[in-house]
Amino acid sequence: MESDVNRRDALKLGAGVGAGAVLPALAQGQQTEEGIESADPRLKPIPRVRVGMVGIGGRGFHLLRLLLGQPHVEVKAVCDLLEDRCQLAQKATVSAGQQKPDAYFPDDRAFEKLCERDDLDLVVTATPWRWHVPVCVAAMKNGHHAATEVPAAVTLDECWQMVETAEQTGRHCVMLENCCYGRTEMMVLNMVRQGLLGELIHGEAGYMHELREDRELLGADQEVRWRLEHMIHRDGNLYPTHGLGPVAQCMNINRGDQFDYLVSMSSLSRGLNVHYASRFGAKHPLATRKYKLGDVNTTMIRTKLGRTITVGHDTQLPRPYTRINMVQGTHGIVQGYPDQIALESNSHGHSWEPIDKFQSKYEHPLWKKLIKEAQGKGHGGMDFMEIHRLIECLTSGTEPDMDVYDAAAWSAIADLSERSVAKRSQTIDVPDFTRGRWKKNRPLGIIGG
Ligand SMILES: NC(=O)c1ccc[n+]([C@@H]2O[C@H](COP(=O)([O-])OP(=O)(O)OC[C@H]3O[C@@H](n4cnc5c(N)ncnc54)[C@H](O)[C@@H]3O)[C@@H](O)[C@H]2O)c1
Repeated sequence: MESDVNRRDALKLGAGVGAGAVLPALAQGQQTEEGIESADPRLKPIPRVRVGMVGIGGRGFHLLRLLLGQPHVEVKAVCDLLEDRCQLAQKATVSAGQQKPDAYFPDDRAFEKLCERDDLDLVVTATPWRWHVPVCVAAMKNGHHAATEVPAAVTLDECWQMVETAEQTGRHCVMLENCCYGRTEMMVLNMVRQGLLGELIHGEAGYMHELREDRELLGADQEVRWRLEHMIHRDGNLYPTHGLGPVAQCMNINRGDQFDYLVSMSSLSRGLNVHYASRFGAKHPLATRKYKLGDVNTTMIRTKLGRTITVGHDTQLPRPYTRINMVQGTHGIVQGYPDQIALESNSHGHSWEPIDKFQSKYEHPLWKKLIKEAQGKGHGGMDFMEIHRLIECLTSGTEPDMDVYDAAAWSAIADLSERSVAKRSQTIDVPDFTRGRWKKNRPLGIIGG
């Protein structure tokens, strides 16, 4: 089993990066102070970030508007399969006072032409999952930084491809995990960094989000859309990064600790059949067909330092939303939905208190500074915060808060969980994408504080 997962196919990079252009492995954890020159080509400040945007669906359009709201961003090109989505993006860009961006459509490789432009700094991807890595790789091979929606990759091979391309081209590849910028998540990171919870021992995370009515599943004519395809053909923890990202940051994954191995188990699958039967009738093909994805998946990860993390995935049964957001240490525990905390120093940790009580002391500095600007700008403001930080890091020449190793390690949990589920919950090793550098990498600070 181990050898299967840790086997790394030799990746052949395309003509854009010849053997002579291969850069030394990137130095990790060398976060520079603003204004200080760095030898790392990834950390050259970009005064005005010229963006190409690929995938202008619900999420892509939202990201585009957030990008247009940033003072140091210029949107130069947009791409989608659909011309009308490109036109919408062009219109929004012109309304924001910028030149009309060039549009690339209609085939699913049109993004390659966009990436070939030499007047871009950053390509942002909000396509369906299967295109994230192809777009990021094309961007990096053409010398642009890449940012992708979640999960960054579907397969383990794609994770390696992303890591190796970032290393060989010397470009950033950032996964836009907006949940790491939630107000509570950032306050908890701040609490953890200040030692309030003691040494971290355990975390619980999840994506527990009823998606049965979601438009990513079915089109207007009941055609199966991209996300439902994944539910038909895959069984595991398909969307791990929203819950896992913030916990992984608290636990210094890739920067002092590392995922070691996991086991994963899925329940039977009933939710979609029952739902479509009640919506379209018991004989409807959507009600009678087989869906591979178990209704509830539970994945357990153990880290090299011996911490444990559970990651849930639960999208096809009726239920309220939660990402759980639990971290537990030697001095206390925090959990979300509702946000609450129990500390040994208060009632021996036997009763919960609302986390708001601690807000004045532990509110994250970024939220203190930008709370008014963030208001109303996506998922309680965290979407604004992630785009603000991405652009701030690029313009100031600092290391982004999430790097390609985070993108790979967090996204890989999906593929690895599928492998475990397929083998009666067998133990599966998590590859070390940093190739040992996690032991020396400096822990992430409190992010932009
Ligand atoms: N971070 C978040 O909170 C969040 C929320 C929603 C969606 N997402 C992620 O955003 C991504 C997009 O989700 P969505 O809801 O916008 O989906 P969507 O189906 O609404 O939009 C996808 C768009 O990509 C276009 N597209 C498909 N293949 C393409 C290709 N090869 N080249 C260019 N364009 C292509 C489609 O035409 C469509 O306009 C997914 O990865 C999803 O997981 C993240």
